[in-house]
Amino acid sequence: MYDPAKIRADFPILAREVNGKPLVYLDNGASAQKPRVVIDAMTHAYEHEYANVHRGLHHLSTIATEKYEAVRGIVARFLNAPDPEEIVFTTGTTEGINLVSYAWAAPRLAAGDEIVLSVLEHHANIVPWHFLRERQGVVLKWVEPEADGSLDPQRVIDAIGPKTKLVAVTQMSNVTGTRVDVAAICRGAKEKGVPVLVDGSQGAVHGPVSIPDIGCDFYAITGHKLYGPSGSGAIWIAKERMAEMRPFLGGGDMIRDVYRDSVTYNDAPMKFEAGTPGIVQQIGMGVALEYLMALGMENVAAHEATLRDYATKRLKGLNWLNLQGTAAGKGAIFSFTLEGAAHAHDISTVLDKKGIAVRAGTHCAMPLLEFFGVGATCRASFGLYNTTDEVDRLIEGLELCHELFA
Ligand code: ALA
Repeated sequence: MYDPAKIRADFPILAREVNGKPLVYLDNGASAQKPRVVIDAMTHAYEHEYANVHRGLHHLSTIATEKYEAVRGIVARFLNAPDPEEIVFTTGTTEGINLVSYAWAAPRLAAGDEIVLSVLEHHANIVPWHFLRERQGVVLKWVEPEADGSLDPQRVIDAIGPKTKLVAVTQMSNVTGTRVDVAAICRGAKEKGVPVLVDGSQGAVHGPVSIPDIGCDFYAITGHKLYGPSGSGAIWIAKERMAEMRPFLGGGDMIRDVYRDSVTYNDAPMKFEAGTPGIVQQIGMGVALEYLMALGMENVAAHEATLRDYATKRLKGLNWLNLQGTAAGKGAIFSFTLEGAAHAHDISTVLDKKGIAVRAGTHCAMPLLEFFGVGATCRASFGLYNTTDEVDRLIEGLELCHELFA
């Protein structure tokens, strides 16, 4: 039985007050809080099991390597991915997508080749492709959402032409919570022989993921949004695509032999992991993913659907509030503006005085804000520990903003 009160007790920070009020943490889209098991596992690793990985034959290095390498298997289980060897550790989705851009796309794409993107994308799934546009003349082909923020998979598939070399698409918008039917996009793209990269930064946080069911080629996640440490993450890469990739960063661990006039590389996935990695961060991410799997991602999704429905009803009751993105089946992420002069930053500041943390600004998704015709929004993004009482606190805070700024 999913018990939010019990789950909240697992997250020490949720017990604190902010500005004299109990914290209402609704900035999970930016970064989620960490359960005690993650914090304790990281402290334990530093206090008892820390050394560099893959390098030492001594006791501590052996334990650290075993713990670190075990996380590959945990990530694979979390994503229902067939093979841990297809998991490359990264510092987060941004690095994962940059890896694909530099190591797979850059050597393969020429001027005039196209990458199909949706307007829903986070900057992390835009800017690495802009690099290829600027440096190599690659064309970015944008697919518009519908007015409610939903993305019709057929529009993405229809945008794939003979020059398209990659589709890069999010599984869930970080601004609106819109869920994208990435499996349908992958099926259509596969028929046209085009690989698909899925940005799972939000999608993996809010529901179960199964790589074989999605059918993508690349799937990136970020640990800090998954209740793990910042600086942790991974990207699942289909073996076939990995074989096509050249190394990205050069350094220790990614090589086999280095001579004065030549170098040979380690096998994948380590070939793509140069230098000392985020050892304890990845161990912490592994514990976070185990925590999520113990809760059950279906249960997390069901709880968040209740929050979404309740918050949607209450927010729609405020006739001076405009919601951006109201697609059916969306996640519990709400972007909104208030009628009147108040800027999103002012609203966020007033809410903060009431202990309520939301994000205000462009949410690293400027093309989507432009689509909605707004310069900035406030965003309340819910997580597995939030409650309907916290929705009520948000509504009270917004009513105060309306009184102050209307
Ligand atoms: N990508 C993060 C967000 O959506 C930072 O806020």
